[in-house]
Amino acid sequence: MIVLEGPAGCGIGKELGRLMGAKAFDVDFKSFPDGESRVRVIGVKKGDDVVIAQSLYQPQDKHIMELLFMADGLRRVASKITAVIPYLAYARQNKAFVEGDMVSIETVMKMLFDAGISSIITVEPHKYDVMEMFKGEGRIVGMANPMAKRLYGEIRDPVVVAPDAGGLERASKIAEALGCGYVHLSKERDRETGEISMSGELGNLSGKDAVVVDDMISTGGTAAAAVDAAISAGARKAVVAAAHLLMVGPAEERIRKAGAVEIYGTNSVPFSNARIVDVSEYIAKELEGLR
Ligand code: R5P
Repeated sequence: MIVLEGPAGCGIGKELGRLMGAKAFDVDFKSFPDGESRVRVIGVKKGDDVVIAQSLYQPQDKHIMELLFMADGLRRVASKITAVIPYLAYARQNKAFVEGDMVSIETVMKMLFDAGISSIITVEPHKYDVMEMFKGEGRIVGMANPMAKRLYGEIRDPVVVAPDAGGLERASKIAEALGCGYVHLSKERDRETGEISMSGELGNLSGKDAVVVDDMISTGGTAAAAVDAAISAGARKAVVAAAHLLMVGPAEERIRKAGAVEIYGTNSVPFSNARIVDVSEYIAKELEGLR
C-alpha cells in the first residue's frame, strides 16, 4: 500500500502511512495564474494499492477536482484506489429542499466512483445514508468515540445539546459515549436567506456542562444560538463539539461571544484555534478493515 497526502490531506495521509507502515508521498501541486490546478504524482508503480488522503473543505470544488485528477490519472497504474475524505463536501445537499435544487452530493459521489475510486472513508458525514449514493464501498468514522475521549476529563456532569431534531442520532451516540443524557432544540432555516431561528425548551440545565454537538460549523450561527439557549437554560458552562470546523468568516467569534468556553473539532479541516481531535488512528482501523 502507498498513501498519497493530497493538497488538502490535512497531514492525515502522512499519519496513515506511519500507522499502517506504508510508504507515504506528498503530492506536488500548484495553481496556474488563471486558477486551474496542476497535480503531479511521482512514485506510484504498476499494481500499487493506492490510498489518497484529500479533505474537501473550502475551496470545495478545487479540492474535489484535485482528487478527481489524482484518481483518474492513477487508475491505469494502481490496482486499487481508496480515497480518505475526512470532510465530505456537499453532504448537506442530499435532496431537493426547494423546487429545482440539485442533489449535489449524488453528483460528487458519481464523479468519485467514475474516476476509479473503489472505496471511500469519511468522517461523520451530515447524514450517514449519503454513503449509499456511492457505488463502491463506503466507510464512516463516527465522531462520537474520538470526541467523547477528548472531552472526558474536561467537562463535568455533561448534557449533550443537539441544535435540531436532525442531529438527535448524533447527540444520542455522543451522550452514550459520555454516559450522559441529551436534549434538543428545533432549528428552522430560511432556504433563501440562510437565516436561522431556534426554538424549543431545553429544561433546567443548572449545574450541567452543556456540550453542543453538530456535524459541522460553517458560519457558526447554529452553534452560537444553541450555546446561547444552553446558557439561558442555566448550564454551568457550554462547549461546542463539531466534526468539521469550516469556520467561515467570524464563526469562531460568534460562538465564543455566545459564551462557549471551548470549541472541539477533528483535524478534517486545517483550523487550529480549537481543541483538535486527530482521527487518523480511527481512519487507519477502517482502512485495515477494507484490506
Ligand atoms: C445543518 O443542518 C448542519 O448540520 C449544521 O448545523 C450547519 O451546517 C451549521 O451551519 P452554520 O454554522 O452556518 O449555522
